[in-house]
Amino acid sequence: MTVITRPAVLISLCLALATTAFAHSGVRNHAVMMRMEAMLSSKKAIDRLVSMVKGQTAFDAASAGAAQQALMTQMKATPDLFREKQTDPKSEARPLIWDNWQDFERKSNSAYLATAALDTQSLEGLRSTLLNLGISCLDCHQVYREGHH
Ligand code: HEC
Repeated sequence: MTVITRPAVLISLCLALATTAFAHSGVRNHAVMMRMEAMLSSKKAIDRLVSMVKGQTAFDAASAGAAQQALMTQMKATPDLFREKQTDPKSEARPLIWDNWQDFERKSNSAYLATAALDTQSLEGLRSTLLNLGISCLDCHQVYREGHH
């Protein structure tokens, strides 16, 4: 991947991770709501990093490090948030998750490792490690989240 194509990939990453406002309204199952909230806060954290890489906000190592910490916590918690098969008409989780539990856990762990591997010390470091994390988010969504390819 060259430096020139990276912004384009990051922009499409943002679009792919975009979520409808008020997507949560009407969710009745508390466990489903909790995992949606966790995913939404991961999105907020990764958005902060994407915006630094795209130059929309100034790079700030402390803020990037805080986003990384938040993402590490969320990615580590993912298997616990999904372990029990909980459903809701508004959920986008595919039932395949519970048929393929080990693979789901493996994908959670890959996302955790990609988060741990983020270099938040410099803009250049962030630029060269962020894409890998975005790919691991999408790698799971592609298989286990409804309507997100
Ligand atoms: C191991 C699988 C997996 C990984 C890794 C993963 N997600 Fe998700 N994500 C899901 C599933 C499944 C759903 C659907 C949950 C539901 O609707 O019940 C989801 C939903 C979401 C949503 C929608 C939440 C809402 O408001 O309904 C966002 C935003 C999101 N993920 C962002 C991310 C980001 C950002 C990352 C990477 C940092 C990530 N996800 C990594 C499986 C994953």
